Amino acid sequence: MNSMTDPEFNNLSSLSNYFATRRSGRPRNLVEPGPSDDQIRGFVETAMRTPDHGKLAPWRVVMVASDQRDILAEGLKAAYIKENPNAGRTEIEAMENMAKEAPALLVVLSSPIESSKIPLWEQELSCGAFCMNILHAIHLEGFLGGWITGWPAFNNDVRDMFGNAPEKIAGFVFVGSSEAPLKERPRPNLDNIFSHWDGAKID
Ligand SMILES: Cc1cc2nc3c(=O)[nH]c(=O)nc-3n(C[C@H](O)[C@H](O)[C@H](O)COP(=O)(O)O)c2cc1C
Repeated sequence: MNSMTDPEFNNLSSLSNYFATRRSGRPRNLVEPGPSDDQIRGFVETAMRTPDHGKLAPWRVVMVASDQRDILAEGLKAAYIKENPNAGRTEIEAMENMAKEAPALLVVLSSPIESSKIPLWEQELSCGAFCMNILHAIHLEGFLGGWITGWPAFNNDVRDMFGNAPEKIAGFVFVGSSEAPLKERPRPNLDNIFSHWDGAKID
């Protein structure tokens, strides 16, 4: 079953239905079919319409090809052992497995322009929105995406495999199709996150 044939989630019959049913996939559960290279370029092109103060495009995407997954696995393993010399086999295997999940993998980098007057925070917010838009683009083509970080996103040796400081890994976006029906996850209560301003004044 892929996300197109799962009636409950990522319903593409209308934009409002899609947003009401949007659901990510778990990278480890994503299977073939995956997107073509052209479709992947299309996802990135769609995400390029992300709001971006100052027209800086403070984000970029590096695609890891299928035949590069073993190299990535070796890299994650080496970086993990360097930071955790006493790491156990299970932890190391988790890194190797992550590198090989799903048919397609995109690494999204927050790529801020430090010399700009636009605050770093705004540039990073834009990158978060960019990741979200890539996910939407993936779902709109009938695939399923999963945006995760995990330990590798916070390690500089891993970052250096894809970019350079001050860039940071904003996420690993895995793409494929669902091997099993998706399940709902709890969502927040609207009244816990939405309120009317009480008009507080500055003393
Ligand atoms: C920046 C970011 C990092 C995330 N990292 C992880 C992660 O490392 N592992 C994980 O299981 N989920 C992670 N998630 C959560 C999943 O991407 C996903 O959003 C979550 O499972 C909820 O699914 P939904 O998108 O259908 O709401 C992360 C989400 C965000 C926004």
